[in-house]
Amino acid sequence: MNVRPVRRLKLRLLALLTAVTATLALAVSPLSPPTTAVAAVPRHRVTYDHYSVSIDGQRVLLRSAEFHYFRLPSPDLWRDVLEKYRSAGFNTVSIYFDWAYHSPKAGVYDFTGVRDVDRLLTIAQQAGLYVIARPGPYINAETTGGGFPAWLKNVPGRARTSAPGYTAAYRDWLGHIDPILARHQITRGGSVILYNVENEYAEATDAAYMEDIQKKARADGIDVPTMTNDCCDAASWTSTWASGQGAVQIPGVDDYPQGFDCANADTSWGPWGAGLTERLRDDTPVFAAEYQGGSIDQQNAGFDKCRELTGPKYMKFFYKSNLIESGATAFNYYMGFGGTNWGWLAQPNDVYTSYDYGSAITENRLLSDKYDEFKRQNLFLASVAPLTRTDPATAPASSDKAIETVARANPDTRTQFVLVRHSDHTATTDDSATLDWTTPDGRYQVPVRVKGRDAKVLIAGYDLGGQRLVWSNSELMTNSYTGGRDVAVLYGTDGTQGSTVLRYSSQPTVKVLQGSVKASYSPRPTDPGVPPGSSSGDLRLDYTHSGLARVLISGGGRRPLLLLLGTDAEAAKFWQAGPLLVRGTSLVRSATVSGQTAYVRADTAKAEDIEVFGDARRLVVNGSPVGTRPTASGSLLGTLPGPKAVRLPALTGWRSKAESPETQPAFDDSGWTAATKTTTESPLKPKTPTVLYADDYGYHYGDVWYRGRFTGTGAETKVSLNAFTGKRGSYLVWLNGRYLGSAAGGVEADADAPVNPDPGRGDFTIPAGLVKAGQQAVLSVLVENQGHNDDWIADDNRFKQPRGLYAVTVAGSDAPIAWRIQGAKGGENLTDPTRGPLNSGGLYGERAGWHLPAYPDGTWKTGAATEVTPGVTWQRTSFRLDLPKGQDVPIALRFGGPVGQGYRVQIFLNGWNLGQYGGDIGPQTDFTLPAGLLRQHGGNTLALAIVARADATPAPVSLVALDNERGGVPVSDVPSPSFR
Ligand code: GAL
Repeated sequence: MNVRPVRRLKLRLLALLTAVTATLALAVSPLSPPTTAVAAVPRHRVTYDHYSVSIDGQRVLLRSAEFHYFRLPSPDLWRDVLEKYRSAGFNTVSIYFDWAYHSPKAGVYDFTGVRDVDRLLTIAQQAGLYVIARPGPYINAETTGGGFPAWLKNVPGRARTSAPGYTAAYRDWLGHIDPILARHQITRGGSVILYNVENEYAEATDAAYMEDIQKKARADGIDVPTMTNDCCDAASWTSTWASGQGAVQIPGVDDYPQGFDCANADTSWGPWGAGLTERLRDDTPVFAAEYQGGSIDQQNAGFDKCRELTGPKYMKFFYKSNLIESGATAFNYYMGFGGTNWGWLAQPNDVYTSYDYGSAITENRLLSDKYDEFKRQNLFLASVAPLTRTDPATAPASSDKAIETVARANPDTRTQFVLVRHSDHTATTDDSATLDWTTPDGRYQVPVRVKGRDAKVLIAGYDLGGQRLVWSNSELMTNSYTGGRDVAVLYGTDGTQGSTVLRYSSQPTVKVLQGSVKASYSPRPTDPGVPPGSSSGDLRLDYTHSGLARVLISGGGRRPLLLLLGTDAEAAKFWQAGPLLVRGTSLVRSATVSGQTAYVRADTAKAEDIEVFGDARRLVVNGSPVGTRPTASGSLLGTLPGPKAVRLPALTGWRSKAESPETQPAFDDSGWTAATKTTTESPLKPKTPTVLYADDYGYHYGDVWYRGRFTGTGAETKVSLNAFTGKRGSYLVWLNGRYLGSAAGGVEADADAPVNPDPGRGDFTIPAGLVKAGQQAVLSVLVENQGHNDDWIADDNRFKQPRGLYAVTVAGSDAPIAWRIQGAKGGENLTDPTRGPLNSGGLYGERAGWHLPAYPDGTWKTGAATEVTPGVTWQRTSFRLDLPKGQDVPIALRFGGPVGQGYRVQIFLNGWNLGQYGGDIGPQTDFTLPAGLLRQHGGNTLALAIVARADATPAPVSLVALDNERGGVPVSDVPSPSFR
């Protein structure tokens, strides 16, 4: 950087002033923790064995959830979501890198702005997460082309094989993405720990291809272990890449035990693949590479139903069963947060705009009851180190056959983990039994109860900090040593009996601080099986799980222990953040202690108590001191303020304008591309004399216009067309400016065995007299390209299925038709690189910048478009927001009434295409407007492009706040270039 001397001096003075001010502020009242000196970049080593992955020789249990940065086009919100991952107890995030998102054209790549994955990886590390990097080349993920850029459809050679054309293309992609991943590896001071090769690759089984991806990765500097995610079990898939040519270091298995039947969420219950992760090699850990964390919504049931399908009951039963039965020590839940298929990101067959996925964190970044369940399970996995090395063990016998047990034990510590569940895995009954349990500390009769669909992992013989947990029929959520004592949170189903047994060398003092807990001490264990002569005794606590009970135990030859015994709901109120255990608030993002001050970053939806357990006497939350008082539990208790109320503006001041000038015979299309090609890479050969597939002319995303000229005979009676749009798409037809109608676009194009020999067929009657003999006629067709098929089964017939016109005949004429085509302005040469290749298509208004901020719409009709006719109508308005600083208010655009039929609406916020509304697209009525794209303190432009197939009254829209939290993360405006 070349900074001139005067400016440099000013900068220095400014820096000095800032430093002095900062020091002064610190002396008076420290509102943020002191920053530590920058240390040398630490480098670490990743290894693995039969049991687990290790980092620098320390075993780690990988608790990961999938995240797609490309579904959240606001980099500051990446931090919000990844901090929420960390607070749920995840220590890892798995990330697909979407080739199509970065590459508008062969050889052209963009990693800036919303595509800045370097920034993403830095944020992930700052949030305290390891990264599983998944650059494909193929990723599936219900993203357009399964992550393949659409220009790849024009490249010869079968995709996902060693075909030379494809090989050159994917090497180029890896050559761009790998070096970014490489410099973020844990071996170089970053947090990338694993490299995922391909995705569920089994159909083409080209071992040389699998091998070459790894060779390329190594050449690009990747030195962490390679892995892959196999779908779905070794028996049905040809290769698991566990051995032989192309093998990866750590093979993993995907599993979606609930399937994707969100419409039947209340009755669906696996197995679909039983939910067990297979061991594929003896020298690698069992790895659940993708385990169902939500669902796509194939039946348009709405994502809340998907959240129900994969809710806490499912999570308890399947996740815990898998943990104990398979012994997996690496889990990646797909998805933790789904996000949005903004622009033309969606693969059209399985998804619509929302990719909420029924995840634990909703599309609007809200935390659901699934989040609580992740937290309960993850914190347990994080606290109990013996879980990283276990073998199958003898399970305690159950007195009632309705309840079964499965066990594992750590061979070093002998700690036992017992899964308790219904023997009939589908049972919803309430059953109780007694387990005859030989623990490392003696034999006990342990009462258990399973109420409805549930599963529990009970623990015995565990050194809980400085304590000895003999057994408990409550589940352990977390334990830590803080504030000079061990603190543990245990929980159980509301209303059920609980017992916890601890061992002491002499009778300890038990103080019940809250709730009702009965304590009894046997100087010597009396239970059968206890080694004779044992000098120690058992303290047994009996209680009912109800609200939160607190017990302080001291003496007995051990350091003090605070036991917090709660229900599921009470346990979920706790956060384990840095050195602190915190109770209360909607989210604790992070915590540190410096001196005797606890610095906490937290979100609150209402004024509420916060309780902090740890070595602190003072509390600062989000930079503000909080008045506290010490409690009998040794904690600090304070109250946090809630957020300021927020009122959103009504959307008024609309202006509207109809477009579609392309339908008019006199429209000047001389600048359009002449569709004169006669060959195509598409496996499906066209039925027209020249190729009319949009991709062949570089128009890959969004709407495409066609104009065909022919000389009339006067005898024309009917025009018949076939068009491919992908599922949910349609096309609209005009002749000489007259609207003839519309038809649903085709989706099948299996060249070998056509599923539908006449895909996307539409027949349109030509009114008499519309075409005159000897005169030129103009056919105008608007084809909606809803996105590209994926390539899940490595089948070019599916992936390279065309978009656009496939066949055209005019009854009563065999005159040649000269076609011109126009999609997004510039085609592969982006005119709006900021928003990228997937943002805009070829509507007239998009080509002319009507979607952009500052477009001069002053001459448009005032008022919203209340009645629209077939074709395209736009409406625009602007609104200002000035949301309270330091608050997070997720906002959506809501369409009123039942989902509109016969038209669809593309939503542009400040020029960003945030989705499609309409009955034939999906059930969605709320569309997320992510902060950053949405200017929270300034002017916003909303533009709606309404494509109507018939006369329609578009639904009214309004802004809605879906949450309001004090806290959040600072969010900068994402650059959004205006109309020029
Ligand atoms: C898996 C695939 C993911 C995603 C998921 C369903 O088979 O690997 O990319 O498509 O299914 O949402």
